[in-house]
Amino acid sequence: MKKKPVSRKPSPRRKALWAGGYDAAPGKALAKISLSHPFDRRLAAQDLAGSLAHARGLHRAGLLSKSDLEAIAAGLAKIAAEIADGRFVFEDADEDIHMNVERRLAALAGEAGARLHAGRSRNDQVALDLRLWTVAAIDAAQEGLRALGLALLSRAEAWCKEPVVIPARTHLRAGQPVLLSHALLAYVEMLRRDRDRLADCRRRTAVSPLGSGACAGTTLPLDRRAVAESLGMPEITENSLDAVSDRDFAAEFAFAAALTMVHLSRLAEDLILWTGEEFRTLRLSESTTTGSSMMPQKKNPDALELVRGKSGRASGALISLLTTMKGLPLSYNRDLQETQEPLFSAADTLMDSLAAMTEVVRGLSARKASERLPIESGALSTDLAEELVRRGVPFREAHGRVARWTRRAAKDGADFRAIAATEDPGLARFLRRLTPESSVRARDLPGGTAPARVRGEIRRLRKLFQA
Ligand code: ARG
Repeated sequence: MKKKPVSRKPSPRRKALWAGGYDAAPGKALAKISLSHPFDRRLAAQDLAGSLAHARGLHRAGLLSKSDLEAIAAGLAKIAAEIADGRFVFEDADEDIHMNVERRLAALAGEAGARLHAGRSRNDQVALDLRLWTVAAIDAAQEGLRALGLALLSRAEAWCKEPVVIPARTHLRAGQPVLLSHALLAYVEMLRRDRDRLADCRRRTAVSPLGSGACAGTTLPLDRRAVAESLGMPEITENSLDAVSDRDFAAEFAFAAALTMVHLSRLAEDLILWTGEEFRTLRLSESTTTGSSMMPQKKNPDALELVRGKSGRASGALISLLTTMKGLPLSYNRDLQETQEPLFSAADTLMDSLAAMTEVVRGLSARKASERLPIESGALSTDLAEELVRRGVPFREAHGRVARWTRRAAKDGADFRAIAATEDPGLARFLRRLTPESSVRARDLPGGTAPARVRGEIRRLRKLFQA
């Protein structure tokens, strides 16, 4: 049963907390564009944690009695519960999450609540909330990347045991044979860099701006470091003007998210190709496809297409953030409120897409060897050119010789290996043994596709992703 709201009845005409010196209320249009609680209520948990840390700081500075601190702590806990079970009434007159919480706290904790905002402004408060929120988003994204990385590694391992060989493509045309696992590991490499980037971004995000006030700090003797540490932030900002106006962390996170989305989009594209009838290598599980309302035979790769599509949204969020920031004079400007939605959108898009991609990868199966797209013999011609190099032929000349043979083969609809063996009988023995599998085994150097190398990479990456 849904509990009844326990807080105040909405009364849009009531004065805002900042309106002590005001006669006029905000115009209708201003009130509308000003309103942020519909989205910044996502910062509620961080706002409450930040307020509690600040209250403790005021207490340690001798500016808040023990009983006032207790009243504030109890009020904040009550507000957290009200928000969690949907009973909290957000009022438009209070604009944002910060003032909604402060107003409710004053009702719950009386005068103690009115003491909380000393030495603090919504400007350092929102900067703190956003940083705490971004740290949590980074940690969640790391988990998502880990799950996807491990899912790819488990597929890569399976298709190393029962080797699946595909033509590596350049320009979307067959190049040379590789293990499909090698191709999957290419994506795990991207995800490894994504994790690195997020870890790096986290260092610059977990920095507390509290104590910067509206823009120029405060006269009150706050122990900024102690407050930061109590919030799990190892560092504090070093310049109050920068602290209240900096959203670099949001832009960095959005970039990391956008680039990860580009990687997911590329993986989506490859999987769409590899699972399709033209490339005939893999199959999607039914639960990651949808049917057509008209064409009965269709099983469309919608999960992958949506991930690919959503990458546009993630790049958009980054551009939106950068554009909002670019013309701002020091220090806080209200424009900064506009950085929140793109930040949330980047995180949501990333999390949903990581989950969808993990589901797809877990559901992938390989087609039977006999049903898979065969590898054209031409994909082995580079191996022959390199054999000639081993026999002392300059590479350019070897390339030309093999090119003539493959050209003739294409014209006659023949296998270039047969033509080469007739033209240069000394090569016959090498050519008899030249298969896609032997070609894969022979590319045995760091970063190569030989099965032993790929198995080594799986071990290395698994350690990194399990950590
Ligand atoms: N909702 C505001 C924001 O996100 C909070 C800070 C408001 N500060 C101000 N000086 N009006 O930016």
